Amino acid sequence: MYILLMGPPGAGKGTQAEKLVAQFQIPHISTGDMFRAAVKNGTELGKEAKKYMDAGGLVPDAVTIGIVRERLTQKDCAKGFILDGFPRTTEQAMALDGILKDLSINLTGVVNIGVPDTELVSRVTGRRICKACGATYHIAYNPSKVEGICDKCGGVLYQRDDDKEETVKKRLEAYHDQTAPLIGYYKKQGVFIDIEGMQNIDKVYTDLLAALKK
Ligand code: AP5
Ligand code: MG
Ligand code: ZN
Repeated sequence: MYILLMGPPGAGKGTQAEKLVAQFQIPHISTGDMFRAAVKNGTELGKEAKKYMDAGGLVPDAVTIGIVRERLTQKDCAKGFILDGFPRTTEQAMALDGILKDLSINLTGVVNIGVPDTELVSRVTGRRICKACGATYHIAYNPSKVEGICDKCGGVLYQRDDDKEETVKKRLEAYHDQTAPLIGYYKKQGVFIDIEGMQNIDKVYTDLLAALKK
């Protein structure tokens, strides 16, 4: 199963990817997570990426395409993967076509999770993430049993630096300008799947699985 998860900031890409990983045991490749790990480790890549992330913009294509190419050629991706948050520009989509061709991989589906902007701001600003295991919660929609503590591992929950309201608005602009046009790109390739994201997390997952099985 080779899946691309698309959708605006806060649509639920990471949340649905967690479920797919649990069910299919294939790697979750999130460029956002990769950049955040680099920031945390203080690498050159992290320093470069942080400038763009904090401003709510996109990291340059050359950098992003390079890290994805390297990741997809690793052995664990041969039997499947969930790519989350990549591609985000037409240039990235074209580069991905080339990478997949080199690897003789055909995408199973390009899943777009649709959610209106008004809802996205509250989803993103209410998000909390476990420092230890990366599990995602929401203070109202998907709260942990004990406030500030992860149900799965007991780790401490934190808020992402770019989840402030002003930055979320910039991220939404970047999405509409640069990423939304990819919907047309993948519709033409005949692998596009539209999922209604304004439903509870489990219902979104049920719809997603049903669409992938078709
Ligand atoms: P990235 O980390 O990819 O962020 P994003 O695309 O903005 O998406 P999010 O992670 O914010 O949202 P999500 O869809 O994963 O939602 P989640 O499941 O967490 O990228 C961050 C930055 O890195 C970018 O701004 C850019 O600078 C850089 N970057 C990354 N990739 C790049 C690329 N390819 N090119 C260039 N730059 C790149 O859910 C959100 C919240 O809602 C959670 O609290 C969750 O519990 C809740 N929730 C989820 N589903 C539901 C539901 N159905 N109902 C109610 N609540 C829900
Ligand atoms: Mg995410
Ligand atoms: Zn945890």
